[in-house]
Amino acid sequence: MIQPFDALVVNKHKDQFSVKLQKLAIEDLPEGEVLIHVQYSGINYKDSLATIPNGNIVKTYPLVPGIDLAGVVVSSKNPRFQEGDEVIATSYEIGVSHFGGYSEYARIPAKWVVPLPKGLTLKEAMIIGTAGFTAALSVLRLEENGVSPEKGRLLVTGATGGVGSFAVSILSSLGYVVEASTGKDSEQEYLKNLGATSIISRNEVYDGKIKALGKQKWAAAVDPVGGEPLASLLSQIQYGGSVAVSGLTAGINLPTTVFPFILRGVNLLGIDSVYCPMEVRLEVWNRLATDFKTANIEGFVQQEISLQQLPEVLPTLLKGQARGRTIVKL
Ligand SMILES: NC(=O)c1ccc[n+]([C@@H]2O[C@H](COP(=O)([O-])OP(=O)(O)OC[C@H]3O[C@@H](n4cnc5c(N)ncnc54)[C@H](OP(=O)(O)O)[C@@H]3O)[C@@H](O)[C@H]2O)c1
Repeated sequence: MIQPFDALVVNKHKDQFSVKLQKLAIEDLPEGEVLIHVQYSGINYKDSLATIPNGNIVKTYPLVPGIDLAGVVVSSKNPRFQEGDEVIATSYEIGVSHFGGYSEYARIPAKWVVPLPKGLTLKEAMIIGTAGFTAALSVLRLEENGVSPEKGRLLVTGATGGVGSFAVSILSSLGYVVEASTGKDSEQEYLKNLGATSIISRNEVYDGKIKALGKQKWAAAVDPVGGEPLASLLSQIQYGGSVAVSGLTAGINLPTTVFPFILRGVNLLGIDSVYCPMEVRLEVWNRLATDFKTANIEGFVQQEISLQQLPEVLPTLLKGQARGRTIVKL
C-alpha cells in the first residue's frame, strides 16, 4: 500500500493561480498502464512556462508538471514492462495535460514509456532529458540529410542552454568542428570543455540586420533559438547545408526569404521531440547511450535540486540564464 506522497501541483481557477507542494494518493493519478516510482526529473524551458499563469503550456488544471521523468516500475498492466524495470518517460502529454515528473509516483500510458537503454543510469537519462534528446534528434536529422564532419564547420546557437550544450558535446564527440554561439561571455570555459572548437557572440550570427544571402560560413547548424537569428543564420549556410530548428527562445517569427532554399539548396529541418514516433525515439535513446554518449555527462549538471526547491528555481530558466541542466531528485 503506497502512502500519500509529495507532488508539485499547479492550479488555475478564475483569477487564482497557484504552484504548491501537495500530498497526493495513487488514486489522484491519471489513467495509465505503468505505475512508476519516480527517481529523477529535470527542468526544461517548457516546465518553467507550465508554472506561470500565462505560459500557454498547461492544457488542464490542476496538473503536476514535469515533462521528463525516470524511475522504476511498481506495477504494469502492459506485458512490455515488469515490476522493477528501469524506464524513461518524456514528452507526449506528460506535464501538459497528464500528470508529470514532479511527483514521487507517476502513472503513464505504456505507449509513452521507453525502457532505460543499457549504458545509461536513471540519473544520466534525466541529465539528458528532453533537452539532450532534442539535441540528439537534431544531430540524427542532420546526418540523414547528408551532414558529416568532412562537410565543414557546424554552428550551435543558444550553446550554453540545455539543447545547445548537448548539441555541442554530441557533435564534437562525433568529430565535427563545432562553433558555439552564445550571449554569455563568461561561459567560454564551459563551452570549450564541452568540445566547442571556437566560440562566437550571438551578435556574429545576427547583428540586427537580415541579409537575403550572406557569406557562407557553416555547413550546417543546430538551432534552438529560432526567430530573427534563425533567418540570419539561414542566409549564412553553405550550399546544400541544413539547419535543424527546435526552439523559439528568440521568437516565433521567421523573417527570411526563399533565397537560401532556392539558390543554395539549404534545408530547414523541423525538430519535434514531443510526438516523435516511438521507433525514432528508441533509436535516439540508444544512440544517447552509445556513440552520442559524452564522457563527462555530470558536467552538464548546473544544479541538482529537490521537489521542495522547484518553486523557487523554475522561474530562473525563463530569464535565459540557464547553463546546462537542472535535475530534480525525487
Ligand atoms: N522542438 C522540441 O521538441 C523542443 C524540445 C526542447 C526544447 N525546445 C525549445 O528549444 C529552446 C531551447 O530549450 P532549452 O531547454 O535549451 O532552453 P534553455 O536551457 O533555457 O536555453 C536557451 C538558451 O538560448 C539562448 N538565448 C536565450 N535568449 C536568447 C535570445 N534572445 N536570442 C538568442 N539566444 C537566446 C541562451 O543561450 P546563450 O546565452 O548561450 O546564447 C539560453 O541559455 C526553447 O525554445 C524550447 O522551448 C524544443
